Amino acid sequence: MRYLVLSDIHSNLEALTAVLKRVRRKRFDRIVILGDLVGYGADPNPIVDRVRKLKRMVIIRGNHDKVCSGIDNGDMFNKVALESARWTENQLLPRNLKWLRALPKGPVTVGDLLSISHGTPLDEDAYIFGEIEALNMFQYFKTPICFFGHSHFPVVFGLDDEALTTYIPVTNGGDNCRIKLDKTKRYLINPGSIGQPRDGDNRASFGVLDDKRMTMTIYRVNYPYEKTQQKIRAAGLPAPLADRLALGR
Ligand SMILES: [Fe+2]
Repeated sequence: MRYLVLSDIHSNLEALTAVLKRVRRKRFDRIVILGDLVGYGADPNPIVDRVRKLKRMVIIRGNHDKVCSGIDNGDMFNKVALESARWTENQLLPRNLKWLRALPKGPVTVGDLLSISHGTPLDEDAYIFGEIEALNMFQYFKTPICFFGHSHFPVVFGLDDEALTTYIPVTNGGDNCRIKLDKTKRYLINPGSIGQPRDGDNRASFGVLDDKRMTMTIYRVNYPYEKTQQKIRAAGLPAPLADRLALGR
């Protein structure tokens, strides 16, 4: 099976459009979405409308989906995130608000192979940044692979009986990095963020898992971020949300 893995779109229509164009001719058995469809960007309704139409999709909510749809008060958010969440809630059409509120909480299992979570498999609002945080999370899912998002950093953590190994995808001037998976290991994998990458590469990041070949490929796609920035500024959203898209951090 081939899985398309998307996370942290954050109302960035130009980035999602570029990603879906990049994979247009490829066949996927499942599309897996790890939450944070909305928040930060200026296109919440077009994003929800687009994602709702995707076929063979499994999706969970992210922390921004909760706050933007009013099921969490956002008291853990910083000022910029909260301001964009309030703006998003006002913009969302009733049908899209209702749909966002009904998104399932992770972790959710997908067949025998996958679990999907937003923050960690234990807590949708918590982060996995480093190796110790990752190591401690393997006990909270039973499947060979768990996808997670939230940190906006693409990374693959592999665990066997002896050690935890970290793979940071490096594209070396290309647009993808293929990591060979080992059947004797279990994995925690973040495909990176489509709409607000934070690893210093401003291109949209997403993943493809091929469980027959046992490969995880992280792709990076250019998109016209200047257009996204203009929309954010025109909407009156906080300026840092536009500025950071050029930097990818
Ligand atoms: Fe996010």
